[in-house]
Formats: sequence, structure tokens, C-alpha cells
Amino acid sequence: MGHLHPDLLQRLHAAVGDAGLVSDSQAKAPYETDWLKKWTGRSSIVVRPADTAQTAAVMRICHETHTPVVTQGGNTGMSGGATPDGSGAQVVLSTVRMNAIRALDPLNDTLTCEAGVLLANIQAAAQAVDRFFPLSLGAEGSCTIGGNLATNAGGIAVLRYGNTRELALGLEVVLPDGRVWDGLRALRKDNTGYDLRDLFIGSEGTLGVITAAVLKLHPRPVARATAWVGARDIDALVGLLAQLRATCGERLAAFEMMSAESLALILAHVTDVRTPLAGAHAFHALIELADTQGDGLAALLEGGLGDALEQGTVQDVAVSVSGAQTQSFWKIREGISQAQMRAGKAVKHDIALPISAIAAFAHEAEAALRAAQPDVRIINFGHLGDGNLHYNVLLPLDTTPEVLAATTAQFNRIVHDIVAATNGSISAEHGVGQLRRDELRHYKSEVEFDLMMRIKQSLDPNQIMNPGKLI
Ligand code: FAD
Ligand code: MLT
Ligand code: ZN
Repeated sequence: MGHLHPDLLQRLHAAVGDAGLVSDSQAKAPYETDWLKKWTGRSSIVVRPADTAQTAAVMRICHETHTPVVTQGGNTGMSGGATPDGSGAQVVLSTVRMNAIRALDPLNDTLTCEAGVLLANIQAAAQAVDRFFPLSLGAEGSCTIGGNLATNAGGIAVLRYGNTRELALGLEVVLPDGRVWDGLRALRKDNTGYDLRDLFIGSEGTLGVITAAVLKLHPRPVARATAWVGARDIDALVGLLAQLRATCGERLAAFEMMSAESLALILAHVTDVRTPLAGAHAFHALIELADTQGDGLAALLEGGLGDALEQGTVQDVAVSVSGAQTQSFWKIREGISQAQMRAGKAVKHDIALPISAIAAFAHEAEAALRAAQPDVRIINFGHLGDGNLHYNVLLPLDTTPEVLAATTAQFNRIVHDIVAATNGSISAEHGVGQLRRDELRHYKSEVEFDLMMRIKQSLDPNQIMNPGKLI
């Protein structure tokens, strides 16, 4: 075990009791490795406070003893942000016991809940009062709203409803010194100075522990129409997206894209999935319209895709005719993370670009990667409707850590340089964590990085919140 303050464990025990501590090394293990099995560390202890008061007590102790703290929600993050380092000196603070929904207010369209509530449980609670919480992603059965807020998660409904940031009205945060900031305001307007809420959203556990949130609910869509389309190239899909945005407006709820290589990977590694289209297409899209009124949605989608077929924008279309078929389309899309894990070791990129720059990026990046390594296996998929590509490169399963590290550095530079030249972002929705910390330093301007450092320093002067991550 790394260097620990002599009173630490005893004081933590006094703060959270037996039920709030995990000290056995086998029981701690799941908290010390991430979902991708890419990072493994060692914690001094795992603390699971039951509520905000216990979290505040834990943070006071850690502040006074200069003990580093890694906050963890569902541990599904893709950037290693929730994994402790190897020193054995870091405390993992798990929010899983803080899982109460505190209030539902259908008149205000808001839900107030604790940070450890699973995303799927929030969706279900909203549905129970005939409302809709739109945040949706493959990990929704195991990620927490605290983690979603801390990473400003995106997912499959951003083009219509925005990122997690747009879905939060208020926050409650335990600061690094143990003070509680009660910002649980359920307001849509509040111009009383600097926006502290937006500072904590996306801060990846480096500024404080989010303990609760007020979330914005939406009217529940009762109708949806879903289609799978095949296209010759990514340029065609970008054109189709613009066309459908113009004709379907707000009703366009999802526009997900994957390359033929991505689809082939899913078909090979995920059970019970079948290709939706008979022929071969270089690019595929899963498109969904949704509305609070049922009439005419399928006709609108069929009309739009019919025009695209006639104009040659797309090559083939399958419009879903049943709930089961819709589910089968989404099962393909949601299988991509699993398929990549099974098929190899991925050099992951999570980039954002103006949608109008996506096609040129894809052509340039592919040419540059192939010039560096002719047989490179590019797995290009993502949320085209948001200008967010998961532009990954897949290496064989038996790739050694050394080769993986060297290849990652090489491919990062190629891909991220093109992204930077387009004024894009090297982290669209997965956050920086430890995966992109050095890349962030490389690409952020001095001014921007300096401002971030000053904020960090003023909120966390003892540098105990998630050291080694993000900044
Ligand atoms: P964790 O992994 O536990 O933590 C993530 C980060 O947040 C860490 O830095 C941690 O320190 C910090 N943190 C967690 N809770 C708190 C808190 N209460 N207060 C302060 N800091 C905290 N992400 C997307 O954006 N879009 C997707 O489409 C998407 N799809 C996914 C599909 C799969 C199959 C998987 C496994 C992951 C996917 N992800 C996606 C990534 C991940 O699910 C999200 O980043 C999610 O928001 C993380 O939530 P979590 O509770 O698991 O957080
Ligand atoms: C997705 O869009 O499926 C996710 O962000 C997960 C991933 O990149 O594997
Ligand atoms: Zn994604």
C-alpha cells in the first residue's frame, strides 16, 4: 500500500461505518479496473457513502489528510477517468449507494435525484409519470447520472435534445474541502453570475463530487419510425442528414453511422444479429424519427428516403415494420463496443467536427493512416447527426502493450492533427480521463490551459481530486 495518513482508515470508518467501506482486496478489484479492461490500478480503500452528508465527511477527511480521491459511478467510462493509479494511495469514492430519486415534478418537467442512480432507472421514473428523459447510450443499464454529468455524456439523442449538459438544470456538489454547494435549482432562467453548474459538468471528478442533480424532462414521444440505409460513401450520408434535418426538423431523433468494416465486426462477434440489407454498402446509417403525435411519421421517413433513393444519395433502404425489427436495428448499433473488445485492441478516437467537414476528414485521415500503415483496420462509426465520429483503429488481440502504446501515439498524432486543423475536438463525448490527458495538453492553447489550471487550483488547492486525469 502506498503512503497513507495513519488516521485515515479509522476516520473514514467513523464517517461511513462498515457498510460504507470495502477493504478486502478481492472485493475492491472491480473498482480498480475499467470496463474496457484497459487500465488497472490499486486503491487504498473503496468508500461508499450513503448520502451527501457522508460524502462531505469523507471529503473533509481526505482534504485534511491530503488523500487523493477518485470518484466512481458505474465505472463504464471510456477514458480511464474512474480508475485509481497504481500507487495504492488513492481512495475510490463510489456513489452507488446514493441512488434515491428525491423528487418528480411533472408540472415543472423536472426530476431530482442522487448521483448514483442508474441512467435506465431515471428513464423509467420519467416514463412512469408520462415524461421522457432523452439521454440514451449503450451503457445506460450500468452508468450513473453522476458519471453522465461528470463526463457530459452524449449518446444517441444529442442531435435533438443535446448533451447531458443541456439536460441538467441544477447540481449539488461536495467540494474538495468537504463543503456542500447546493445548486439544486429547478430553474430555466438564472442569471446570477458565473455558471458554477456548467463548471462541474464535464469536470470528470477533478473539481468535486456531484451528489445530486435536477434534470430536465421532455414530452414522451409516442410514435417512432426507424430505417436502416446503405450508401456508397460517407459524403452521401452527410447529404442525407442535411436533407432529413430540413424536411423532418425536430422529429429527426437519431442519425447513427457505421462503415462496412464496423458492421462486419458486429456481425462476426455479436450473437443474434443479422445484416438489415442484402447488398454490400460502404456506409450504413440507422435513422429514427420520433414524435409526440403518431400521424404521418412513417410516411414522412419513407418519403424522404424514397427521394434519396431516386436521387441516388442512398443505395438501399429498409424501413422497420415492427417493434421487433426496430429493436434488431438498434441491437446491431449497440453491439459495436462489445464487438471491438472481442475482435482486438482498439486505438480509440472520439472526435467532433463541423458536420460539413466530416467527409473530407474521413478521406484525409484514411489516406494518412494508410500511408503510415497500408493494412490498417479502420473502424469508423458514430453519431453523425452530432458531427461525432468514433474513428478507431483496430489492432490484433495479441498486440503487446509496447506496440499498442507506440501505435496509439503515432495514430493519435495523425488523426488529431487533422482534427485540430479543422478546429475540431479530440474528445467529443467520452472525456479526457487518462487516455487523452497528454493530447489535451498538446492541443489546448496556452491561454485555455492556463485558465483551466487556475480553476483547478482555486477549487482544489490540495490537488486531491482525481490526480493524473484530464489536466
Ligand atoms: P464512471 O465511469 O464511473 O466515471 C467516469 C468519470 O466521471 C470519471 O472521471 C469519474 O471520476 C467521474 N465521475 C463519476 N461519477 C462522478 C460524480 N458523481 N461526481 C464527480 N465525478 C464523477 N458515452 C457517451 O458519451 N456516449 C455513448 O454513446 C456511450 N456509449 C457507451 C457504450 C458502452 C457499451 C459503454 C461501456 C460506455 C459508453 N459510453 C458512452 C461511456 C460511458 O458510459 C459514459 O461516459 C458514462 O457517462 C459514464 O458514467 P459512469 O457512471 O459509468 O461513470
Ligand atoms: C458508442 O457510440 O457506441 C460509444 O460511444 C461507445 C464506443 O465508442 O465504444
Ligand atoms: Zn458514442
